[in-house]
Amino acid sequence: MSEKKNLNIGLVGYGFMGRTHSNAYCKVNNFFDLEYRPQLKAICGRGEENAKAFAAQWGYESVETDWKALVERDDIDAIDICTPNNTHAEIAIAAAKAGKMILCEKPLSMNLAEGEEMVKAVEEAGVANTIWYNYRRVPAVSLAKKLIDEKRLGKIFHYRANFLQDWTISSNLPQGGAALWRLDVNAAGSGVTGDLLAHCIDTAIWLNGSITDVSAMTETFIKERMHNLTGKVEKVGIDDACTFMCHFSNGSLGLFESTRYARGHKALYTFEINGEHASIKWDLHDLHRLEYFDHRDDSLVRGWRSVHVTDGDMPYMDKWWVPGLQIGYEHTFVHQVADFLDGLAKGTPTSPTFREALETQRVCDAVLNSAQSKQWVNV
Ligand SMILES: NC(=O)c1ccc[n+]([C@@H]2O[C@H](COP(=O)([O-])OP(=O)(O)OC[C@H]3O[C@@H](n4cnc5c(N)ncnc54)[C@H](O)[C@@H]3O)[C@@H](O)[C@H]2O)c1
Repeated sequence: MSEKKNLNIGLVGYGFMGRTHSNAYCKVNNFFDLEYRPQLKAICGRGEENAKAFAAQWGYESVETDWKALVERDDIDAIDICTPNNTHAEIAIAAAKAGKMILCEKPLSMNLAEGEEMVKAVEEAGVANTIWYNYRRVPAVSLAKKLIDEKRLGKIFHYRANFLQDWTISSNLPQGGAALWRLDVNAAGSGVTGDLLAHCIDTAIWLNGSITDVSAMTETFIKERMHNLTGKVEKVGIDDACTFMCHFSNGSLGLFESTRYARGHKALYTFEINGEHASIKWDLHDLHRLEYFDHRDDSLVRGWRSVHVTDGDMPYMDKWWVPGLQIGYEHTFVHQVADFLDGLAKGTPTSPTFREALETQRVCDAVLNSAQSKQWVNV
Protein backbone atom coordinates (compact mmCIF):
# COMPACT_ATOMS: atom_id res chain seq x y z
CA MET A 1 0.00 0.00 0.00
CA SER A 2 1.28 3.49 -0.85
CA GLU A 3 2.60 5.89 1.80
CA LYS A 4 -0.22 7.90 3.39
CA LYS A 5 -0.33 11.67 3.67
CA ASN A 6 -1.01 12.79 7.24
CA LEU A 7 -3.95 15.03 8.02
CA ASN A 8 -3.39 16.58 11.45
CA ILE A 9 -6.63 16.94 13.37
CA GLY A 10 -7.31 19.43 16.15
CA LEU A 11 -10.65 18.52 17.75
CA VAL A 12 -12.56 20.92 20.01
CA GLY A 13 -14.94 19.41 22.60
CA TYR A 14 -14.50 15.97 24.16
CA GLY A 15 -18.18 15.15 24.73
CA PHE A 16 -20.54 12.87 22.82
CA MET A 17 -19.51 13.99 19.34
CA GLY A 18 -15.85 14.31 20.34
CA ARG A 19 -15.98 10.56 20.98
CA THR A 20 -17.82 9.59 17.77
CA HIS A 21 -15.43 11.63 15.62
CA SER A 22 -12.29 10.42 17.42
CA ASN A 23 -13.49 6.85 16.91
CA ALA A 24 -14.01 7.57 13.20
CA TYR A 25 -10.50 8.99 12.76
CA CYS A 26 -9.04 5.93 14.51
CA LYS A 27 -10.96 3.41 12.37
CA VAL A 28 -11.19 4.94 8.92
CA ASN A 29 -7.89 3.75 7.44
CA ASN A 30 -8.44 0.21 8.70
CA PHE A 31 -11.48 -0.15 6.45
CA PHE A 32 -11.09 2.39 3.61
CA ASP A 33 -8.09 2.59 1.29
CA LEU A 34 -7.36 6.32 1.27
CA GLU A 35 -4.50 8.61 0.37
CA TYR A 36 -4.80 10.50 3.68
CA ARG A 37 -4.48 9.28 7.27
CA PRO A 38 -5.91 11.43 10.11
CA GLN A 39 -3.49 12.03 12.97
CA LEU A 40 -4.96 12.80 16.38
CA LYS A 41 -2.71 15.81 16.94
CA ALA A 42 -4.55 17.79 19.62
CA ILE A 43 -7.71 17.65 21.70
CA CYS A 44 -9.07 20.93 23.03
CA GLY A 45 -11.29 21.23 26.11
CA ARG A 46 -11.57 23.85 28.79
CA GLY A 47 -10.86 21.42 31.62
CA GLU A 48 -7.18 20.41 31.44
CA GLU A 49 -7.53 17.24 33.54
CA ASN A 50 -10.48 15.95 31.51
CA ALA A 51 -8.76 16.85 28.25
CA LYS A 52 -5.61 14.98 29.34
CA ALA A 53 -7.67 11.93 30.29
CA PHE A 54 -9.44 12.05 26.91
CA ALA A 55 -6.09 12.42 25.11
CA ALA A 56 -4.74 9.37 26.94
CA GLN A 57 -7.83 7.29 26.20
CA TRP A 58 -8.05 8.11 22.49
CA GLY A 59 -4.38 8.66 21.65
CA TYR A 60 -4.23 12.43 21.08
CA GLU A 61 -0.64 13.69 21.04
CA SER A 62 -1.32 16.96 22.87
CA VAL A 63 -3.88 19.01 24.77
CA GLU A 64 -5.07 22.61 24.45
CA THR A 65 -7.44 24.40 26.84
CA ASP A 66 -8.20 27.36 24.56
CA TRP A 67 -9.48 26.78 21.02
CA LYS A 68 -7.86 30.07 19.92
CA ALA A 69 -4.42 28.58 20.64
CA LEU A 70 -5.39 25.40 18.76
CA VAL A 71 -6.47 27.31 15.68
CA GLU A 72 -3.17 29.18 15.55
CA ARG A 73 -0.98 26.06 15.67
CA ASP A 74 1.10 25.43 12.53
CA ASP A 75 0.99 21.67 13.00
CA ILE A 76 -2.84 21.47 12.68
CA ASP A 77 -4.42 20.97 9.22
CA ALA A 78 -8.09 20.57 10.14
CA ILE A 79 -10.24 21.83 13.00
CA ASP A 80 -13.12 19.58 14.05
CA ILE A 81 -15.82 21.48 15.98
CA CYS A 82 -17.69 19.29 18.47
CA THR A 83 -18.87 22.01 20.85
CA PRO A 84 -22.34 23.46 21.55
CA ASN A 85 -24.04 25.42 18.77
CA ASN A 86 -23.26 28.92 20.11
CA THR A 87 -19.53 28.29 19.58
CA HIS A 88 -19.60 27.00 15.98
CA ALA A 89 -19.45 30.37 14.21
CA GLU A 90 -16.65 31.94 16.22
CA ILE A 91 -14.42 28.86 16.03
CA ALA A 92 -15.15 28.17 12.34
CA ILE A 93 -14.55 31.75 11.24
CA ALA A 94 -11.23 31.94 13.16
CA ALA A 95 -10.19 28.53 11.80
CA ALA A 96 -10.98 29.59 8.22
CA LYS A 97 -8.97 32.80 8.67
CA ALA A 98 -6.06 30.68 9.90
CA GLY A 99 -6.34 28.60 6.70
CA LYS A 100 -7.54 25.41 8.39
CA MET A 101 -9.94 22.89 6.88
CA ILE A 102 -13.09 22.62 8.98
CA LEU A 103 -15.35 19.73 9.92
CA CYS A 104 -18.15 21.24 12.01
CA GLU A 105 -20.99 19.57 13.88
CA LYS A 106 -24.57 20.34 12.97
CA PRO A 107 -26.51 22.57 13.03
CA LEU A 108 -24.25 24.89 11.05
CA SER A 109 -25.09 27.86 13.27
CA MET A 110 -27.44 29.48 15.77
CA ASN A 111 -29.33 31.21 12.94
CA LEU A 112 -29.19 32.09 9.25
CA ALA A 113 -27.25 35.36 9.64
CA GLU A 114 -24.48 33.60 11.56
CA GLY A 115 -24.47 30.76 9.02
CA GLU A 116 -24.02 33.22 6.15
CA GLU A 117 -20.92 34.64 7.87
CA MET A 118 -19.52 31.12 8.23
CA VAL A 119 -20.09 30.29 4.56
CA LYS A 120 -18.42 33.57 3.55
CA ALA A 121 -15.41 32.81 5.78
CA VAL A 122 -14.74 29.29 4.42
CA GLU A 123 -15.34 30.32 0.81
CA GLU A 124 -13.08 33.39 1.06
CA ALA A 125 -10.36 31.26 2.68
CA GLY A 126 -10.87 28.48 0.12
CA VAL A 127 -10.63 25.78 2.81
CA ALA A 128 -12.26 22.34 2.62
CA ASN A 129 -15.34 22.18 4.83
CA THR A 130 -18.18 19.87 5.79
CA ILE A 131 -21.03 19.64 8.30
CA TRP A 132 -21.64 16.36 10.12
CA TYR A 133 -25.17 15.53 8.98
CA ASN A 134 -24.16 11.91 9.45
CA TYR A 135 -27.55 10.23 8.83
CA ARG A 136 -27.04 10.67 5.09
CA ARG A 137 -24.32 8.05 5.43
CA VAL A 138 -26.38 5.31 7.01
CA PRO A 139 -26.15 2.74 4.17
CA ALA A 140 -29.96 2.31 4.07
CA VAL A 141 -30.41 6.10 3.75
CA SER A 142 -27.76 6.25 1.01
CA LEU A 143 -29.65 3.41 -0.68
CA ALA A 144 -32.86 5.46 -0.50
CA LYS A 145 -31.00 8.26 -2.31
CA LYS A 146 -29.85 5.83 -5.02
CA LEU A 147 -33.40 4.48 -5.54
CA ILE A 148 -34.83 7.99 -5.78
CA ASP A 149 -32.09 9.16 -8.17
CA GLU A 150 -32.78 6.10 -10.35
CA LYS A 151 -36.42 7.35 -10.51
CA ARG A 152 -37.76 4.06 -9.10
CA LEU A 153 -40.35 5.94 -7.04
CA GLY A 154 -41.52 8.02 -10.01
CA LYS A 155 -43.04 11.37 -9.25
CA ILE A 156 -42.90 12.02 -5.51
CA PHE A 157 -46.09 13.15 -3.75
CA HIS A 158 -45.33 12.98 -0.03
CA TYR A 159 -42.33 13.27 2.32
CA ARG A 160 -42.98 12.59 6.00
CA ALA A 161 -40.39 12.66 8.79
CA ASN A 162 -40.41 12.42 12.59
CA PHE A 163 -37.72 12.73 15.23
CA LEU A 164 -39.15 11.81 18.62
CA GLN A 165 -37.53 11.71 22.06
CA ASP A 166 -38.79 11.76 25.65
CA TRP A 167 -35.93 12.94 27.87
CA THR A 168 -37.10 16.43 28.93
CA ILE A 169 -40.57 15.64 30.26
CA SER A 170 -39.66 16.17 33.94
CA SER A 171 -40.17 19.76 35.11
CA ASN A 172 -37.37 19.17 37.65
CA LEU A 173 -34.79 18.95 34.88
CA PRO A 174 -32.68 22.13 34.95
CA GLN A 175 -31.49 24.00 31.85
CA GLY A 176 -27.97 25.10 30.85
CA GLY A 177 -24.45 24.05 31.73
CA ALA A 178 -22.42 21.04 30.69
CA ALA A 179 -24.96 18.30 30.08
CA LEU A 180 -28.06 20.44 29.54
CA TRP A 181 -26.92 23.19 27.17
CA ARG A 182 -29.55 21.91 24.67
CA LEU A 183 -32.30 23.35 26.91
CA ASP A 184 -30.64 26.80 27.07
CA VAL A 185 -31.61 28.91 24.06
CA ASN A 186 -28.44 30.99 24.40
CA ALA A 187 -26.28 27.91 23.85
CA ALA A 188 -28.50 25.93 21.48
CA GLY A 189 -30.18 28.66 19.38
CA SER A 190 -33.42 26.68 19.32
CA GLY A 191 -34.83 23.45 20.71
CA VAL A 192 -35.91 20.47 18.66
CA THR A 193 -35.89 22.53 15.45
CA GLY A 194 -32.11 23.02 15.31
CA ASP A 195 -31.25 19.87 17.23
CA LEU A 196 -33.47 17.20 15.68
CA LEU A 197 -35.49 18.60 12.77
CA ALA A 198 -32.26 19.93 11.25
CA HIS A 199 -31.28 16.28 10.64
CA CYS A 200 -34.69 15.53 9.08
CA ILE A 201 -34.50 18.65 6.90
CA ASP A 202 -30.96 17.89 5.72
CA THR A 203 -31.97 14.35 4.72
CA ALA A 204 -35.17 15.61 3.09
CA ILE A 205 -33.41 18.22 0.97
CA TRP A 206 -30.80 15.65 -0.04
CA LEU A 207 -33.41 13.05 -1.02
CA ASN A 208 -36.25 15.20 -2.31
CA GLY A 209 -34.85 18.61 -3.27
CA SER A 210 -35.40 22.09 -1.94
CA ILE A 211 -38.20 23.26 0.37
CA THR A 212 -39.98 26.39 -0.84
CA ASP A 213 -42.29 27.45 2.01
CA VAL A 214 -43.31 26.29 5.47
CA SER A 215 -46.13 26.58 8.00
CA ALA A 216 -45.13 25.61 11.53
CA MET A 217 -46.22 25.43 15.13
CA THR A 218 -43.97 25.09 18.15
CA GLU A 219 -44.67 24.58 21.84
CA THR A 220 -42.64 25.01 25.01
CA PHE A 221 -44.42 22.73 27.47
CA ILE A 222 -42.30 23.63 30.51
CA LYS A 223 -42.06 27.41 30.58
CA GLU A 224 -39.47 27.86 33.37
CA ARG A 225 -36.57 25.77 34.60
CA MET A 226 -33.76 26.25 37.07
CA HIS A 227 -30.65 27.44 35.21
CA ASN A 228 -27.48 25.56 36.10
CA LEU A 229 -25.22 28.55 35.39
CA THR A 230 -27.16 31.25 37.31
CA GLY A 231 -28.80 29.07 39.98
CA LYS A 232 -32.09 30.92 39.30
CA VAL A 233 -35.39 29.78 37.82
CA GLU A 234 -35.44 31.25 34.31
CA LYS A 235 -37.73 31.33 31.30
CA VAL A 236 -37.21 28.47 28.85
CA GLY A 237 -36.50 29.91 25.38
CA ILE A 238 -36.34 26.74 23.31
CA ASP A 239 -39.07 24.92 21.40
CA ASP A 240 -39.84 21.58 23.12
CA ALA A 241 -41.86 20.40 20.13
CA CYS A 242 -42.22 21.54 16.53
CA THR A 243 -44.49 20.42 13.73
CA PHE A 244 -44.41 21.89 10.25
CA MET A 245 -45.78 21.30 6.80
CA CYS A 246 -44.10 22.47 3.63
CA HIS A 247 -43.98 22.40 -0.15
CA PHE A 248 -40.98 21.02 -2.01
CA SER A 249 -39.94 22.56 -5.32
CA ASN A 250 -40.71 19.22 -7.06
CA GLY A 251 -44.40 19.70 -6.15
CA SER A 252 -44.51 17.22 -3.26
CA LEU A 253 -45.90 17.95 0.20
CA GLY A 254 -43.86 17.56 3.40
CA LEU A 255 -44.91 16.90 6.99
CA PHE A 256 -42.35 17.00 9.82
CA GLU A 257 -42.70 16.49 13.56
CA SER A 258 -40.19 16.57 16.38
CA THR A 259 -40.58 16.55 20.14
CA ARG A 260 -38.76 15.62 23.33
CA TYR A 261 -42.14 14.75 24.93
CA ALA A 262 -43.04 11.50 23.14
CA ARG A 263 -42.95 9.07 26.07
CA GLY A 264 -41.34 5.79 25.03
CA HIS A 265 -39.24 7.17 22.19
CA LYS A 266 -35.49 7.71 22.63
CA ALA A 267 -34.36 8.70 19.14
CA LEU A 268 -37.11 7.65 16.76
CA TYR A 269 -35.98 9.25 13.53
CA THR A 270 -38.21 7.93 10.74
CA PHE A 271 -39.06 9.03 7.23
CA GLU A 272 -41.47 7.81 4.57
CA ILE A 273 -41.58 8.88 0.95
CA ASN A 274 -44.52 8.09 -1.31
CA GLY A 275 -44.08 8.20 -5.08
CA GLU A 276 -46.22 7.38 -8.09
CA HIS A 277 -44.76 3.85 -8.43
CA ALA A 278 -43.15 3.07 -5.10
CA SER A 279 -42.72 4.11 -1.48
CA ILE A 280 -39.84 3.83 0.96
CA LYS A 281 -39.64 3.95 4.76
CA TRP A 282 -36.69 4.12 7.13
CA ASP A 283 -36.37 4.00 10.92
CA LEU A 284 -33.22 4.86 12.90
CA HIS A 285 -34.10 2.21 15.52
CA ASP A 286 -33.76 -0.40 12.77
CA LEU A 287 -31.20 1.51 10.74
CA HIS A 288 -29.84 -1.31 8.57
CA ARG A 289 -33.24 -1.93 6.94
CA LEU A 290 -35.01 -0.03 4.16
CA GLU A 291 -38.70 -0.78 3.63
CA TYR A 292 -39.70 -0.68 -0.05
CA PHE A 293 -43.09 -1.13 -1.73
CA ASP A 294 -43.35 -1.23 -5.52
CA HIS A 295 -46.79 -1.13 -7.12
CA ARG A 296 -45.31 -2.54 -10.35
CA ASP A 297 -44.66 -5.91 -8.66
CA ASP A 298 -46.78 -8.93 -9.62
CA SER A 299 -49.99 -8.32 -7.63
CA LEU A 300 -49.97 -11.85 -6.21
CA VAL A 301 -46.77 -11.15 -4.28
CA ARG A 302 -46.95 -7.38 -4.02
CA GLY A 303 -46.19 -6.02 -0.56
CA TRP A 304 -43.68 -4.16 1.58
CA ARG A 305 -40.17 -5.61 1.27
CA SER A 306 -37.77 -5.22 4.16
CA VAL A 307 -34.39 -4.86 2.51
CA HIS A 308 -31.55 -5.86 4.84
CA VAL A 309 -28.90 -3.40 3.67
CA THR A 310 -25.78 -5.49 4.28
CA ASP A 311 -24.72 -6.96 0.93
CA GLY A 312 -21.49 -5.79 -0.67
CA ASP A 313 -23.33 -3.98 -3.47
CA MET A 314 -25.07 -1.70 -0.94
CA PRO A 315 -23.59 1.76 -0.24
CA TYR A 316 -20.41 1.53 1.91
CA MET A 317 -21.05 -2.14 2.82
CA ASP A 318 -18.22 -3.63 0.75
CA LYS A 319 -15.86 -1.96 3.25
CA TRP A 320 -17.21 -3.84 6.29
CA TRP A 321 -18.03 -7.49 7.06
CA VAL A 322 -19.83 -10.15 5.03
CA PRO A 323 -23.46 -10.07 3.78
CA GLY A 324 -25.97 -10.40 6.59
CA LEU A 325 -23.80 -8.71 9.22
CA GLN A 326 -24.93 -5.22 10.00
CA ILE A 327 -23.13 -2.07 11.08
CA GLY A 328 -24.43 0.75 13.28
CA TYR A 329 -24.48 4.38 14.34
CA GLU A 330 -20.75 4.96 14.75
CA HIS A 331 -20.05 3.82 11.19
CA THR A 332 -21.90 6.82 9.77
CA PHE A 333 -19.13 9.04 11.15
CA VAL A 334 -16.45 6.73 9.71
CA HIS A 335 -18.18 7.07 6.33
CA GLN A 336 -18.18 10.85 6.53
CA VAL A 337 -14.46 10.96 7.37
CA ALA A 338 -13.75 8.51 4.53
CA ASP A 339 -15.69 10.70 2.09
CA PHE A 340 -13.93 13.82 3.39
CA LEU A 341 -10.47 12.27 2.96
CA ASP A 342 -11.40 10.92 -0.47
CA GLY A 343 -12.67 14.38 -1.48
CA LEU A 344 -9.41 15.89 -0.30
CA ALA A 345 -7.40 13.52 -2.50
CA LYS A 346 -9.63 14.23 -5.51
CA GLY A 347 -10.03 17.96 -4.84
CA THR A 348 -13.83 17.66 -4.57
CA PRO A 349 -16.05 19.08 -1.80
CA THR A 350 -17.67 16.77 0.75
CA SER A 351 -21.40 17.13 0.99
CA PRO A 352 -22.95 18.73 2.93
CA THR A 353 -20.58 21.68 2.72
CA PHE A 354 -21.20 24.79 4.83
CA ARG A 355 -23.07 26.27 1.84
CA GLU A 356 -25.31 23.22 1.52
CA ALA A 357 -25.94 23.15 5.27
CA LEU A 358 -26.95 26.83 5.05
CA GLU A 359 -30.01 25.66 3.11
CA THR A 360 -31.09 23.58 6.14
CA GLN A 361 -30.43 26.57 8.39
CA ARG A 362 -32.62 28.69 6.12
CA VAL A 363 -35.48 26.22 6.49
CA CYS A 364 -35.01 26.07 10.30
CA ASP A 365 -35.19 29.87 10.48
CA ALA A 366 -38.31 29.91 8.28
CA VAL A 367 -39.92 27.24 10.52
CA LEU A 368 -39.28 29.26 13.69
CA ASN A 369 -40.46 32.48 12.01
CA SER A 370 -43.64 30.76 10.82
CA ALA A 371 -44.38 29.38 14.29
CA GLN A 372 -43.97 32.85 15.76
CA SER A 373 -45.95 34.72 13.10
CA LYS A 374 -48.57 31.95 12.61
CA GLN A 375 -48.16 32.55 8.84
CA TRP A 376 -46.78 30.58 5.88
CA VAL A 377 -43.16 31.70 5.38
CA ASN A 378 -41.15 31.46 2.14
CA VAL A 379 -37.74 29.86 2.53
N1 LIG B 1 -24.40 14.62 14.17
C1 LIG B 1 -25.15 14.25 15.19
O1 LIG B 1 -25.95 13.34 15.11
C2 LIG B 1 -25.02 14.96 16.51
C3 LIG B 1 -25.36 14.31 17.70
C4 LIG B 1 -25.16 14.99 18.90
C5 LIG B 1 -24.67 16.28 18.90
N2 LIG B 1 -24.40 16.91 17.73
C6 LIG B 1 -23.87 18.29 17.72
O2 LIG B 1 -22.52 18.26 18.21
C7 LIG B 1 -22.24 19.40 18.99
C8 LIG B 1 -21.77 18.95 20.37
O3 LIG B 1 -22.79 18.16 20.95
P1 LIG B 1 -22.44 17.00 22.00
O4 LIG B 1 -23.68 16.17 22.13
O5 LIG B 1 -21.15 16.37 21.68
O6 LIG B 1 -22.29 17.88 23.31
P2 LIG B 1 -21.55 17.50 24.65
O7 LIG B 1 -22.14 18.39 25.70
O8 LIG B 1 -21.53 16.03 24.88
O9 LIG B 1 -20.05 17.95 24.36
C9 LIG B 1 -19.71 19.29 24.14
C10 LIG B 1 -18.27 19.48 24.50
O10 LIG B 1 -17.87 20.80 24.19
C11 LIG B 1 -17.08 21.33 25.26
N3 LIG B 1 -17.09 22.79 25.18
C12 LIG B 1 -18.11 23.64 25.35
N4 LIG B 1 -17.69 24.91 25.13
C13 LIG B 1 -16.37 24.83 24.81
C14 LIG B 1 -15.37 25.78 24.48
N5 LIG B 1 -15.66 27.09 24.45
N6 LIG B 1 -14.12 25.36 24.22
C15 LIG B 1 -13.82 24.03 24.25
N7 LIG B 1 -14.72 23.08 24.56
C16 LIG B 1 -15.98 23.48 24.83
C17 LIG B 1 -17.74 20.74 26.48
O11 LIG B 1 -16.89 20.80 27.61
C18 LIG B 1 -17.96 19.30 25.99
O12 LIG B 1 -16.80 18.54 26.12
C19 LIG B 1 -23.52 20.23 19.00
O13 LIG B 1 -23.43 21.23 18.02
C20 LIG B 1 -24.60 19.23 18.63
O14 LIG B 1 -25.72 19.81 17.98
C21 LIG B 1 -24.55 16.26 16.55
